[in-house]
Amino acid sequence: FPFSGSQQVPEFCAYGESECGSSSSKLLIKGGTVVNAHHQEVADVYVEDGIIVSVQPNINVGDDVTVLDATGKYVMPGGIDPHTHLEMEFMGTETIDDFFSGQAAALAGGTTMHIDFVIPVNGSLTAGFEAYKKKAKKSCMDYGFHMAITKWDEIVAREMEIMVQEKGINSFKFFLAYKGSLMIRDELLLEGLKKCKSLGALAMVHAENGDAVAEGQKRMIDLGVTGPEGHALSRPPVLEGEATARAIRLAGFVNVPLYVVHVMSIDAMEEIAKAQKSGQKVVGEPVVSGLVLDDSELWNPDFTIAAKYVMSPPIRKPGHGKALQAALSRGVLQLVGTDHCTFNSTQKALGIDDFRKIPNGVNGIEERMHLVWDTMVEWGQISVTDYVRITSTECARIFNIYPRKGAILAGSDADIIILNPNSSFEITAATHHSRTDTNVYEGRKGKGKVEVTIAGGKVVWDGSALKVAPGSGKYIEMPPFSHLFNGIEKADAAYLSSLRAPVRRLKAAT
Ligand code: URP
Ligand code: ZN
Ligand code: ZN
Ligand code: ZN
Repeated sequence: FPFSGSQQVPEFCAYGESECGSSSSKLLIKGGTVVNAHHQEVADVYVEDGIIVSVQPNINVGDDVTVLDATGKYVMPGGIDPHTHLEMEFMGTETIDDFFSGQAAALAGGTTMHIDFVIPVNGSLTAGFEAYKKKAKKSCMDYGFHMAITKWDEIVAREMEIMVQEKGINSFKFFLAYKGSLMIRDELLLEGLKKCKSLGALAMVHAENGDAVAEGQKRMIDLGVTGPEGHALSRPPVLEGEATARAIRLAGFVNVPLYVVHVMSIDAMEEIAKAQKSGQKVVGEPVVSGLVLDDSELWNPDFTIAAKYVMSPPIRKPGHGKALQAALSRGVLQLVGTDHCTFNSTQKALGIDDFRKIPNGVNGIEERMHLVWDTMVEWGQISVTDYVRITSTECARIFNIYPRKGAILAGSDADIIILNPNSSFEITAATHHSRTDTNVYEGRKGKGKVEVTIAGGKVVWDGSALKVAPGSGKYIEMPPFSHLFNGIEKADAAYLSSLRAPVRRLKAAT
């Protein structure tokens, strides 16, 4: 059915519920190159009831099976976007893509799962979780949750336990920026890191120095700079580098893994590289906007154009993106997110007289898979197996849902894409599936096109039309203690025993 152009999100599936709602479909994907993070080979993939049953050459099936010919194409795990904000209340408004429109856009771009950030309600994790559960009822693809921590007391500490042990959340985000709203202080970060460590949950940070950002904003306003360019000028890379270094050092002090979200600058990336060299477990997540855009459009005299590029940390000067791409190909950065957080032109205009009021965020959930393919694989920076790793498998491993997700293996969920490397894509707001009326990648063209998306064993995107049903997406519970936690007790024990001798000496001397 017709589903193209922004704001044409269908509310209901065009098919009867018997077809959309059931999961008895049998599918055979024939003759493609099946790619996993560890290996690629020409093989068939047989799917039944939403699960991959078999991956091997020349599978024969009966005629009750739908056969898709993938000859000459790549058959890969659907993308997993580790960083999105659907239907989030933020900066006096709410992101325009909800769990249906944002996910429909994702599926049209080859992403079959995302992890969204639950924002607590007045600091309450339980209330936040319930609110997001309600928002996500209309889901048409699988999703998981991270949880932000915005205040600290005994109740929050107890709620963190409940989230991990009963609600399927294994990661918590701490905002070191957004002073006056989401920002937390180092004292809270330390408590949070300790709690994450005891629960086996991954601590994530938005790393910018919020106090210094407020100072930088004041400087700009005092200079009479009120337009979108003031956003970039007020929060330079050094503030991202400082907060990244601080969070890394505190995580090292507590001896707990750390995940740095939306790494946007060389400054932050180099702090991550340095920590990794010393053996610390730090995960770095670049986002597509930071990899492929630069800040030049923030100076566009047309406010509507300039404002759509406002996100935090800001999109940086030319050079940062290239360096982040190189870090991604070297493994300093491990997986790519989007920070999909869309506001339309009317919402962005809240800041027409003052850049501090422009809602922060850009699109990307639909564009990620194509832009990463074109930028990284087509331009020879990474292999096709690496592509699968950075768009899907690594995310599944970090959030402890591999190999159910992130793999084309017997037993894995049938979330699969077929990508034609010889086809091409073009991005424009006129045909994208997000509800927003602009696109930060407007006019971009490239090689490689997702021609089929299969989610939960169903073809939901055929290269031109979506077949999606609200309510068909599942909540994916993510268990704690991923591989990142291996060996932590040993390091703690070694540290404690290293203290024993000097403490004994000290006691003997007094
Ligand atoms: O500008 C951004 N990044 N908006 C979303 C909130 C966040 O900081 O991730
Ligand atoms: Zn339906
Ligand atoms: Zn953030
Ligand atoms: Zn974000």
